[in-house]
Amino acid sequence: MAVPRQRIHLPPAAWRSAIGAVLRGNMSEGPAIAEFEQAFAAFIGVPDAVTVPSGRAGLRFLFDSLGLRPGAEVICSAFGYPIVPFLVKSLEFDLKFADCEMQTLGMDPSALDAAISERTAAVIVTHLYGIPCQIREIADIVKARGVLLIEDCAHCYGASVGDCKAGAFGDAAYFSFETSKVINTMGGGMVTVRDAALGKRVRNAGSEEPQKGIAWLLKRLLKTSFEATVTNPLVFNLGVYQALRLAPRASADGDRFASGYHGDEVSMTGKMGRYTNYQSRLGLQQMKHAAARNARRTLNAERLIGKLRDHIHFQEPAGPDVSANYMLVTALVPKLQEVAAQLLRSGVDTKHKYMRDCSGMFETGATFPNAARAEREVLHLPAHPEMSLAQIDAVASKIAAVITALGLSRQGQPNKE
Ligand SMILES: Cc1ncc(COP(=O)(O)O)c(C=O)c1O
Repeated sequence: MAVPRQRIHLPPAAWRSAIGAVLRGNMSEGPAIAEFEQAFAAFIGVPDAVTVPSGRAGLRFLFDSLGLRPGAEVICSAFGYPIVPFLVKSLEFDLKFADCEMQTLGMDPSALDAAISERTAAVIVTHLYGIPCQIREIADIVKARGVLLIEDCAHCYGASVGDCKAGAFGDAAYFSFETSKVINTMGGGMVTVRDAALGKRVRNAGSEEPQKGIAWLLKRLLKTSFEATVTNPLVFNLGVYQALRLAPRASADGDRFASGYHGDEVSMTGKMGRYTNYQSRLGLQQMKHAAARNARRTLNAERLIGKLRDHIHFQEPAGPDVSANYMLVTALVPKLQEVAAQLLRSGVDTKHKYMRDCSGMFETGATFPNAARAEREVLHLPAHPEMSLAQIDAVASKIAAVITALGLSRQGQPNKE
């Protein structure tokens, strides 16, 4: 059996609760929104949390609420989700990049230290793929300079560093609840804040959004049902896998089946509109099970990484007291397209080109070698929580075989980095 790169689920009882919410007339507004916000804030360990239409909308509302003047310098990691620097630029801030480091793939604290200046107003760091970046070191640098710190926690619900959850280190954070994320409410997100007054302003910014109606609800239910169907292992093996194998080989700058970042995602289309009471119910329900699912993800990820560490470089947490959620298991492999194609042939579907070296998309005049390498080499391997340990072991053997056959194994090489 071939293994899909990822599994997308329809949130439990999504259709049934949708019908109930429409019949009761509380699809858009209702008490679950405040309940979800309070439970989320308590879980992250911050005074307030605000539901938002999407992660990117959350960042947009934060910028609307922080009062930064146009032209203020904002630093982002060069390796990340392009929507973030595009948004910074579209709001006429002065965008600057700092390179990533190769352990967590997050912003390199020493690169930030070199980049931060008198003109810096805010720093945005991303905890990529469920592994926190070196947030303690970054927070120390940022705080010493009196600069705002925003954490992109789109991937990192439930991850922590020491006693502190990702999202509780900065002045604010935003989370995404898209279908591939740890909490999936068929879109939406949450902003968490350290200052309750900022939370109030973010809430006001969001309240100006139009309410979503039944057409939106139906579209999201159908879209998510489709995603759940094609990533279901049975359906995947009955047709999707063959289609992927027959698809033309990837072009140099992106394979449309890589489910990576696509240029049209820069827009806010489909990412605005007020977060609903219905989605809040789904979110509350999933918060109850997230710890168990993250524990299973971690078990699978650590098993896969443990079996392959001698062959491949993996993204890994920065210390023993860092707890990751392993939303995606991430390896770095030279000859990415070739490895992905061979793995697909042996029944292992993978994902790549999700994050990018964003510096290449803007005229910065600077190069960021680690971000460039990460864009070239990052490959996400399947280790979803539904996979058994036997399936993980089988996938690990296939990957080891492909890496060895292509002469890319670092086993026996003196420098294992
Ligand atoms: C790292 C990162 N930041 C931000 C976002 C934007 O989240 P949303 O799609 O909810 O706007 C994403 C989406 O995948 C992401 O991966």
